[in-house]
Amino acid sequence: MTEHWPSLTTGRFPRGWFVIGFSEELESGQVRPARYFDIDLAIWRTSAGEPRVFDAFCPHLGAHLGHGGQVEGDSIRCPFHAWGFDSTGKCTDIPYAKRVPPKAQVRSWPTLERNGMVMLWHDPAGGQPEDYVPIMDEFGAEGWTPWVHRMAQIKTHPREVVENVADIAHFGPIHGNEVLSFDAKFEGPTATQSTRTTAYDKKGRLTKQRTVATYYGPGIQFSKMDGEFNTIILNAHIPIDENNLELRMGLLVQGIDYDTRLGRTLGEMWIDALHTGYFQDVAIWEHKQWQDEPMLCDGDGPIADLRRWYAQFYEDIAC
Ligand code: FES
Ligand SMILES: [Fe+2]
Repeated sequence: MTEHWPSLTTGRFPRGWFVIGFSEELESGQVRPARYFDIDLAIWRTSAGEPRVFDAFCPHLGAHLGHGGQVEGDSIRCPFHAWGFDSTGKCTDIPYAKRVPPKAQVRSWPTLERNGMVMLWHDPAGGQPEDYVPIMDEFGAEGWTPWVHRMAQIKTHPREVVENVADIAHFGPIHGNEVLSFDAKFEGPTATQSTRTTAYDKKGRLTKQRTVATYYGPGIQFSKMDGEFNTIILNAHIPIDENNLELRMGLLVQGIDYDTRLGRTLGEMWIDALHTGYFQDVAIWEHKQWQDEPMLCDGDGPIADLRRWYAQFYEDIAC
């Protein structure tokens, strides 16, 4: 069988929403530098609490707004000569000039804060953001923990992280799980995988675990797991450059009291276990080579379908 393999190579980054942090990690008035999609950025939050992402470099003489920029209300002031930029990126104030050059502007990236996460919209073609990130009712709900989370910087390309969801043959050798059933659906910007695997309960007895994991766009996946505890797992990544990315993982768990020491310990143990699970994959990703045309066999998962789905985020759409 000849597959048509979409090209997922290189020099480009996918279009979509990407998580740049959890809400609690960016306080009102805070400014920090970042680098994503091979672009230097300044991430900040207005005094009223709105997250903002700007291109880093001031159009005046090029200072980095993320290193020493000062938030004043809904504006940010450059650390070098104190030009002030409003929350759309337009320069509105130069303390020592009579006239602001009309083109003085930094690019402001679309942002979204939802479910306790701050996200940015990346589209090389400059298209409008799409609204596909779901509201998770479990976030902030009675009886659920807040996000218990971890972040890691790893050396790989985002396509490897995404391909993992269709790669059923790795569950046994890498994660030690037996896949009892697997189903994948690709619809518009979402890719959903439903699996039943073997797992162990609190007493170490072999049980079955049902997980429904959905990617919303190319970089944000929520998984719902039922079993011992109902759990939502966040798996989100954002490219730093062609070969490095930030991987964020988070847990919302029902039925453990995160205000108690026991609850907190349980949450921490769980996120550590998840972290360990991801790093079983990371150990492979960091050393592997991408295969544009892999040699597959009949027991492999729907890797071609997954790649076709993922390729949509690399194609420019008319805007
Ligand atoms: S470099 Fe930013 S105000 Fe001069
Ligand atoms: Fe995996």
